Amino acid sequence: MLELELDSEAATLALARSLASVLRGGDVVGLEGGLGAGKTTFARGAVHGLGVPEETAVTSPTFALLHQYQGRLPIGHADLYRLGD
Ligand SMILES: Nc1ncnc2c1ncn2[C@@H]1O[C@H](COP(=O)(O)OP(=O)(O)OP(=O)(O)O)[C@@H](O)[C@H]1O
Ligand SMILES: [Mg+2]
Repeated sequence: MLELELDSEAATLALARSLASVLRGGDVVGLEGGLGAGKTTFARGAVHGLGVPEETAVTSPTFALLHQYQGRLPIGHADLYRLGD
């Protein structure tokens, strides 16, 4: 297991961008963590790293369940914690 300590929002965004650069169609990235852990920040970095314009806001899909974006790949950002099955 690889353990990384990210001590700023900028570090989280940078890691997410790096990961985004190697993602391929069909890949699934799971983000696990409590309130304020940095999940949406990570998603924002990954979405922008996949080529979606910086002006496009990336927020928690808590109520919509799924937010979709088109970058160099089609992207779906889902909040699954409320789904029972
Ligand atoms: N590595 C980090 N170090 C310090 N602060 C961070 C880091 N990553 C993100 N943050 C900050 O922590 C706060 C919470 O981040 P974020 O909204 O991404 O969390 P979340 O896991 O999506 O929370 P929620 O479960 O409420 O949706 C934000 O203000 C964000 O800028
Ligand atoms: Mg969030």
